[in-house]
Amino acid sequence: MKVEIVTRRDGEQEIVAYDYVPRDDSEKPMILDVLLQAQANGMPDLAFRYGCRARNCGVCTVDINGRPRIACRARIKEGDRISPMATLPALSDLVVRRDGVARQMRGRLATAGQGNDLNVSAPDDYHALTGCIECYACLHECPMHARNFDGGLPDEQAVEDRPDPAEGYTSGNPFSLLKLQRIRIDPLTSEAGKSSALDNAIDLGLDACVGCKGCKCGVGIDLIGKVIWPMLEAAGDRLAEKG
Ligand code: SF4
Ligand code: SF4
Ligand code: FES
Repeated sequence: MKVEIVTRRDGEQEIVAYDYVPRDDSEKPMILDVLLQAQANGMPDLAFRYGCRARNCGVCTVDINGRPRIACRARIKEGDRISPMATLPALSDLVVRRDGVARQMRGRLATAGQGNDLNVSAPDDYHALTGCIECYACLHECPMHARNFDGGLPDEQAVEDRPDPAEGYTSGNPFSLLKLQRIRIDPLTSEAGKSSALDNAIDLGLDACVGCKGCKCGVGIDLIGKVIWPMLEAAGDRLAEKG
């Protein structure tokens, strides 16, 4: 099975053809199977990430034909092109810098904890949101995240014009809103904490979500129904004041 693997060294991109040898006629390999075989067989320097190999850690996400897929979970087919996630800056081959998103949340997740009642259980929606594996597949086609890169993608910007991931991105994304919504519906969060979580969502650019249907989760969390709509509804007046 012939596929293409986009490699990148020192800013230079190359498209390498790789011929995957199936283990048997019935095998339908995952993307990660191809990458592991390629690394063991002719591309020893190929850089990519993986961890759990069981769709739990999220670090293996790559783009297939320009759309994000979880490499240990998604099957690959003849002619597919594997490239680094276009929504984050590429470091080497398929490895991207993920820290700009994590650093964005620094300081935003500490919620006011006074007045907690430990004898309460979380609503079902809260548990649904704990299914996030931080794969960042949802950054794809997110206009809020694109604001970090002047409306484009990292590799469309000159290196000196890109934001420094070490500072944390200033505009948010579905993942950051999910984290904040989780705080809002956590029964252990105080009213002040809930209000602060919403303020942070607005500060990250919640207004970009008005009329946007771009949210798609790599593991099937209903981002529109369980994150975006409740936040937009709660933020109605505050967004209007901002706008
Ligand atoms: S709804 Fe909001 S978070 Fe989701 S893709 Fe659109 S702008 Fe991004
Ligand atoms: S919300 Fe879904 S797509 Fe986004 S980081 Fe979490 S698991 Fe991945
Ligand atoms: S290796 Fe952990 S989700 Fe793919």
